[in-house]
Formats: sequence, structure tokens, C-alpha cells
Amino acid sequence: METQDMHISFTKYLNAAELPEQDAILYQKAREAAESAYAPYSNFQVGAALLLDDGTIFAANNQENIAYPSGLCAERVALFAVFSRFPDAKIHTIAIVAKHHDAWVAVSPCGACRQVMSECEKRSGQKMRILFTSQNDSVLLFHGIESLLPFAF
Ligand code: THU
Repeated sequence: METQDMHISFTKYLNAAELPEQDAILYQKAREAAESAYAPYSNFQVGAALLLDDGTIFAANNQENIAYPSGLCAERVALFAVFSRFPDAKIHTIAIVAKHHDAWVAVSPCGACRQVMSECEKRSGQKMRILFTSQNDSVLLFHGIESLLPFAF
């Protein structure tokens, strides 16, 4: 029997203005996408912007439904849309932001989205950088979904 430790490394930016330029652009695209989310039931509008290796940016948002479980998170709307069009897509970075009523708030991808992100990494053969808003407008950057979903299925 042995005990092991696992460490998670991430970068914390105090706010979006500290982000490197390419990430700042992606983060802004996520914010724009969040503005047109369809979230009348939660009033939690999420934007997810993907930067592909070829430089393409694709942004999407959460889509809710009166039958609540029929809705889908912004991350999965974005990832599934990209992979449905470009099965060989390589995701360089995903930026995730959220607005609750009229305020930008912290967000972190749900378990189901982490599982999908894990499979997207697997099928494209590379890790993705993951950016999202944390407390007090700070932004966290992770390298690869394993940091957020260790021991993935
Ligand atoms: N949601 C996302 O779109 N992404 C997340 O990372 C967290 C949650 C959505 C699902 C639902 O439409 C609303 O936010 C409230 O949970």
C-alpha cells in the first residue's frame, strides 16, 4: 500500500486585463457569446469560446429548455458544433465566462462538460488550455483537462 499525492498547477491572472493578447481576445469572444445565451430559467448566461490550432475562433453559449435536462451547457454546444463540422479539429484553448443577471461571475465547467472535454482531447491527441473566470474577476488558466478531471473514464 502506498499513498500518493496529486498536484494541480494553474496560472491565476488578477483580471482579464492581465491576460496575454490572444487569450484576452478569446475571453472577449466568450463574453460576447454569453450575451446571446438562451438562459431564461437560470438567468445564468455562459459563453464558451474555442481557439482552434489553425487560428479559427468559434464561440457559443448555453441553450436552456423548459424541460430543464434538455438544455445544454455552452462548452458542449461549442465543442459539439466544432467537431460536427471539423472532426479533426484541434482545440488550442477554451475560454469560459458567465453572467448572472447583469453581473459577470465566476464559473467552472460542470462534470459532464469536463468529461466531454476529456474526450475532445483524446480524439484530437492533444491537451487544451482552459481559461475561466474565478472569484473577484480573476481568471484561471489550466493546461489540459486532467487538472480538472483526474482519473477520467
Ligand atoms: N452552464 C454552462 O453552460 N456552463 C457551465 O460551465 C456551467 C453551467 C449552464 C447550464 C445552465 O443553462 C446554466 O448554466 C445554469 O446552470
